[in-house]
Amino acid sequence: MDSKIHTVSASPNIAFIKYWGKRDHKLTLPFNSSVSMTLENPMLKTITSVKLSEKMKEDEIYINGNKIDSKDQRFNYMLGVIEQMRSKAKSDSKALVVSKNMFPTGSGLASSASGAAALSYALNSAFGLDMEPRELSKIARQVSGSGSRSIFGGFVVWHKGSIADGSDSYSEQIAPKSHWDELIDIICMVDSSRKKVSSTEGHELTARTSALFKSRIDFAENGAISSIQAIKSKDFQSLAQNIMRDSNNMHAVMLDSWPPIIYLNSSSLQAISVISELNESEGKYVAAYTFDAGPNPHIITTKANEHKVIEALDSVEGIKDKITGVVGDGPSMLDESESLIKD
Ligand code: PMV
Repeated sequence: MDSKIHTVSASPNIAFIKYWGKRDHKLTLPFNSSVSMTLENPMLKTITSVKLSEKMKEDEIYINGNKIDSKDQRFNYMLGVIEQMRSKAKSDSKALVVSKNMFPTGSGLASSASGAAALSYALNSAFGLDMEPRELSKIARQVSGSGSRSIFGGFVVWHKGSIADGSDSYSEQIAPKSHWDELIDIICMVDSSRKKVSSTEGHELTARTSALFKSRIDFAENGAISSIQAIKSKDFQSLAQNIMRDSNNMHAVMLDSWPPIIYLNSSSLQAISVISELNESEGKYVAAYTFDAGPNPHIITTKANEHKVIEALDSVEGIKDKITGVVGDGPSMLDESESLIKD
């Protein structure tokens, strides 16, 4: 195996129809399919370099300058995929993985999705595996479920699948970014503190305790089918409604968990009101709000309406900064000069 350094840049994605709850924890298999848009902004990227070595005694992983070990939840997921790739390649080499997020630490923008996609892509190249993106989405899925969608650019569906070994739970592109590049995500930063409940804990707690969760599964699956149609036909009215209803539905089952999981704060609720009032006054949907496992509003709108939406968001208290993500590409290989590993 060569000792070349393989460096990849990957972007996060924003889910229009969310994944929340795993039917298999080890393989990261979801209860429902999810739909997303890959985001492009230099501040949102993760860069990961991988170097293989026959001299190293064990795999080593560094994230943002810190060596991580088995006490860190991420370590075991990442080690799991390194081992799978090594065994597929019939290699004995250990991997040195160095990963860096371009977003400022503590900005509340941390994305496990871009990291999972960058790692899978870089390992594929380092081990010379030449795996298809669909197969790589199954690898990335095991580091972070949402990472499976970041293997593709544009608009993406992660199929829930039904086979127990996870072989039919993969992502694929619905449409490339050029199909609907007017869409944007205005990310409002209202809180940068670490989540009180990690998504790993939250997925488990909701599926186990929420009485409403069963009805979410069908609701989200239908939302995914309808959103794929809305994306294909560029129907913002239908997509916007699906986006807002799915976010509300996911946060409802979170609140219905026991003990309850509450990610939204007063700024999030204000953003919901402001966007609802804006849509009301325009007589149609010009923007849609959505929230992941945190309070930061993601406002999906079009470039044409960006100004209007930003003006409306000015009345929301507690927004410290805004970053606009456009529709982005999937992971890309970078040159040696951008490597994070210096020989
Ligand atoms: O990929 P995870 O395990 O960090 O879960 C992410 C879940 C949400 O961001 C809340 C929804 C989604 O589909 O991205």
